[in-house]
Amino acid sequence: MLKVNLGGCSPFVKDADYKKYVEKALAAFDVLESETGAGNDFLGWKHLPTNTPESLITDCEAIRDAWKAKGVNLVIVIGIGGSYLGAKCAVEALSHSFARQLASAKDSMEVVFAGQNLSEEYISELMDLAKERNIAAVVISKSGTTTEPAVAFRQIKNYMEEKYGKAEAAERIVAVTDARKGALKSLSTQEGYKTFVIEDNVGGRFSVLTPVGILPIVLAGFDIRMMLKGAAEMEETSARRSADNPAVQYAAMRNLLYDQGKKIEILVSYNPKLQYLGEWWKQLYGESEGKDGKGIFPASVNFTTDLHSMGQYIQDGERILMETVVSVESSNRSMTIVNDPQNLDGLNFLSGKQFEHCNAMAELGTRLAHMDGGVPQLQVSVERINEYNLGALFYFFEKACGISAYILGVNPFNQPGVEAYKKNMFALLGKPGYEAQAEELKKRLK
Ligand code: PA5
Repeated sequence: MLKVNLGGCSPFVKDADYKKYVEKALAAFDVLESETGAGNDFLGWKHLPTNTPESLITDCEAIRDAWKAKGVNLVIVIGIGGSYLGAKCAVEALSHSFARQLASAKDSMEVVFAGQNLSEEYISELMDLAKERNIAAVVISKSGTTTEPAVAFRQIKNYMEEKYGKAEAAERIVAVTDARKGALKSLSTQEGYKTFVIEDNVGGRFSVLTPVGILPIVLAGFDIRMMLKGAAEMEETSARRSADNPAVQYAAMRNLLYDQGKKIEILVSYNPKLQYLGEWWKQLYGESEGKDGKGIFPASVNFTTDLHSMGQYIQDGERILMETVVSVESSNRSMTIVNDPQNLDGLNFLSGKQFEHCNAMAELGTRLAHMDGGVPQLQVSVERINEYNLGALFYFFEKACGISAYILGVNPFNQPGVEAYKKNMFALLGKPGYEAQAEELKKRLK
């Protein structure tokens, strides 16, 4: 099971201060559990692991099987932010690193993503791939009005209707959106797409365990039941009102460190498969806490790769950093470093050792070095990378995020700041209704 270790923070904090922050965290926990805090109409995520009906999973599996029967070998999942990052994180963490290049994977259904940017290269290169494959699409948007996925979907829908005909394209498109409102909902009803609902009480960045994540994860061939099991066990563990609750511990320590001047938290992993855990986590914490002029800035790095780029700053730059290391205790593979009788590279001291052992020593050495450099070390450990532990990590970070934001005194479940760029973009693109704002912007750009 997931464990939190705060030993790497002891040189930086006094026990008495940590105890005070645990009290704050328990008070915030009470607000979250009693559902009396700001944004309390967005707490549906809390019981998703234990409340997900089996019928939702079998519906997703039925789509996977129907598409496989048609020979579909590429599913394009279209979405952005909370409608993208959880599924992307799971697919990256659980897939073979070279799945695309492996001959044995040629017949499987590959999941790729679109609508998470507005790059012309990206969408047109994706269409190159679509032309070579037998495709289906999942379009995900809670609001049903987000520009990036909407415009990507328009393009892909148009291509699919030309390639397969309108009726067959409709069989190959599934929408995940609001039950009633939004352009995607009305379009799906009109076109007769199979649709999954994102409940009103679950915000985008807390939606990975809804159809937003469940459908793509099932389509990619992973065991969603195990993921929900891991999340359900964490739901139970993190519901305990206790100083030993890992979500309380993590929330308490990061807020204490923040108040002591550690304004940036870096999520660290030592496995490239977890790169998108960092991306998902950044959105969760950045959008939940960064408001009202407050909030820890969330960053992420992948070691040992980034020790050769960001390592210098972390060791030696401005002392405003704390690190949260996501440690994986065991590898899913086993490979030892070979012996070389010539030993020209001088590496025979490593012969017979597992790569994973070297990685673990790099992690340990780095944690100690960064502590010496003034960077407190929080550690979240799981036994190995699999569906169960990923589910536990998702739920753990969500619960700790709710507690943490309430300690900070902000509403974890809104995101007023993301509207500003959208208004400017609409004005600059000439969207009807934004004429006055367009004039204002033009004056500023002169
Ligand atoms: O967390 C959030 O609410 C956002 O990041 C959204 O997920 C993101 O903006 C996408 O929104 P939508 O699902 O409405 O297209």
